[in-house]
Amino acid sequence: MRRPSERLRRRRAPRPGIAGRTAVVTGGARHIGLAIAGALSEAGAKVVLVDRDADALASAARGLGCAAVQADISAGSATALAERVLEEHGTVDLIVNNVGITTSSRFRDLTEDEFDLVLATNLRGPWFFTRRLVEAVIADARLASILFISSLHSSRVRHYPHYSASKAAVAMLVKELAHELGPHGIRVNAVSPGWIGAGESAADLIPLGRAGAPEDVAPMAVALLDDAVSGYVTGADLAIDGGLGLHSWLDHTEA
Ligand SMILES: NC(=O)c1ccc[n+]([C@@H]2O[C@H](COP(=O)([O-])OP(=O)(O)OC[C@H]3O[C@@H](n4cnc5c(N)ncnc54)[C@H](O)[C@@H]3O)[C@@H](O)[C@H]2O)c1
Repeated sequence: MRRPSERLRRRRAPRPGIAGRTAVVTGGARHIGLAIAGALSEAGAKVVLVDRDADALASAARGLGCAAVQADISAGSATALAERVLEEHGTVDLIVNNVGITTSSRFRDLTEDEFDLVLATNLRGPWFFTRRLVEAVIADARLASILFISSLHSSRVRHYPHYSASKAAVAMLVKELAHELGPHGIRVNAVSPGWIGAGESAADLIPLGRAGAPEDVAPMAVALLDDAVSGYVTGADLAIDGGLGLHSWLDHTEA
């Protein structure tokens, strides 16, 4: 049961920014995760990278001058992984669930192992990792902000249904958590990148005329994590896709 005095205290509490706060970024050793970790680090956060790739992780952590935990979030207990992070780095205020993978199979070819791997990586791991970190935040009565890196394909066809279904689940998880954790002072949001990578083969489909770069995602990610900027935003899912999601069947007709 929420006590009114507690709610009032939270409403009146000064909203902390990024500086000095502890942030964890899963899959932070490269690409989008690395760009977000770099932007958080620049903004003064104490960043902890979690990644399964030992070499990339060591190089990223050296480059940013931040901490690293080598682990595979899809294997074993993600609760135990969160406990390791808490033991080594204390309560985490800013949680970035960036890890996400797919395999290149369509519905009729997909093996059960592939299904399990993608769902364990994109949904199960982040779920239990976040839950354990959230328990620590609540126990410490801290404000916290959680960001999931979802995808344009949470709501649009990808041709890899296990991937799009996992991202649709993430999109709904964000809303559920925003509702459930809001009274504890924990905000939960998502960004949904479009096509982030090299190559221009689909550039014609993108109103802004180019593929995105990790650096297009990082500033918005930081803004959604930063209580001083987005302290009254929760349950949001922001497309970062250059307008790719606006693509219409009418683009293929003379109409
Ligand atoms: N790249 C895109 O165009 C794009 C578009 C939409 C959404 N996304 C989403 O953005 C997020 C990041 O994508 P990306 O392209 O930067 O990823 P990526 O494939 O470049 O991988 C990022 C990092 O995650 C690590 N990683 C992968 N599986 C892991 C696991 N089980 N445990 C720990 N670390 C693991 C990798 O080692 C790597 O360093 C994902 O959730 C992805 O679904 C990407």
